[in-house]
Amino acid sequence: MNAVATETPSRIRPSRPDAKLRCEGLRKVYGSVVALDTTDLDMPEGEFLTLLGPSGSGKTTLLMLIAGLLAADAGKIWIDDKLASDLPSYARDIGMVFQSYALFPHMTVFDNIAFPLEMRRWSSDKIKAAVEQTLELVRLPHVADRYPRELSGGQQQRIALARCFVYRPSIILMDEPLGALDKKLRDQMQFEIKQLQAELNATVLYVTHDQDEAMAMSDRICLMNHGGVEQIGSPHDLYFRPASRFAADFLGESNLLPGRVISASEQPEVEMLGLRFAARRAAADLAEGNPITVMLRPESIEIGPGTAPNGLPAVVERVTMLGGVVRSVLRLGDGTEITSRSLTRPDALVARPGEPVSIHWQPEAPVLISRETTRGA
Ligand SMILES: Nc1ncnc2c1ncn2[C@@H]1O[C@H](COP(=O)(O)OP(=O)(O)OP(=O)(O)O)[C@@H](O)[C@H]1O
Ligand SMILES: [Mg+2]
Repeated sequence: MNAVATETPSRIRPSRPDAKLRCEGLRKVYGSVVALDTTDLDMPEGEFLTLLGPSGSGKTTLLMLIAGLLAADAGKIWIDDKLASDLPSYARDIGMVFQSYALFPHMTVFDNIAFPLEMRRWSSDKIKAAVEQTLELVRLPHVADRYPRELSGGQQQRIALARCFVYRPSIILMDEPLGALDKKLRDQMQFEIKQLQAELNATVLYVTHDQDEAMAMSDRICLMNHGGVEQIGSPHDLYFRPASRFAADFLGESNLLPGRVISASEQPEVEMLGLRFAARRAAADLAEGNPITVMLRPESIEIGPGTAPNGLPAVVERVTMLGGVVRSVLRLGDGTEITSRSLTRPDALVARPGEPVSIHWQPEAPVLISRETTRGA
């Protein structure tokens, strides 16, 4: 090792070689509003990461800071291991797609897609080839000569995607790009964006407040709340191992029940609704006597006949048929409300309101969550 202390040049940061984007200590404040609390975020190349969270949780703020359209109060951003946070927006090699398609109305589809290439002074031959190839990619090769107003909403959004993908930006940021489309078109476009992303191995940071969209599209979800990261992980992680009440509540439906740690031995035991059971899955501090929240997903609640042994007695309050799923709301003896979901089967016995039943769940179903883990509640 060299005797002289070596300093890492500030513009090049040693990091995991696969970190396409790295944010460190990013923060944005408006007067007394903390739009984004100090936030770190890493994305490997080719990842599809979704910022999910309620309105006002800081999703757009984080995106705008990365794009350089907003100046951060603190923090640094690296793209491909190069410091990007003091570069202007246009020099960051970032593509953006917004909810409003932001196509130029007076330009044809061809000229709209060619625009970023013209700005980069590509030759006209190269531009023509790239635009044609990208129109094929979004499956609209026949609309090059049309104007945006001559396209449907879904087609316009595909052209906006084409205009972003055409110059192969290092990172693509999308803020609710499907927000203006109807449900069916949304589903189709979700699939198409995923396909496009996979085909090009693009690194995509996507914003939505639709949990189904986030679950369907993402490699990882970054759940935001009150300007900060509540939890980051795969859709599976967030759904099955939520780290907080907020996460359990935000993603999917859940029964959140009060419980208490009875013994904190090697195999901790928990009490809930008068039942004692072994803690199998916990994101909580299991110290003896600690109050905890127990999460039970509705699909893990099984309903049996009222006469079944070892079940928890309940009365059916209401039953709703949701197509492929039946949702039942049940009331326990102490007044607690429990929701159950099961697949619809024509031959299945569906309990009727007022009927006494018993409920059960598998031993690994309960997830234990600390009572006070939610940010800034
Ligand atoms: N220019 C601004 N001036 C003052 N406050 C702002 C400004 N922009 C954003 N905020 C505040 O910062 C917080 C985060 O806003 P942001 O737009 O990032 O939320 P979001 O998660 O994108 O919400 P949505 O889902 O509604 O788009 C909000 O409380 C918002 O009111
Ligand atoms: Mg927003």
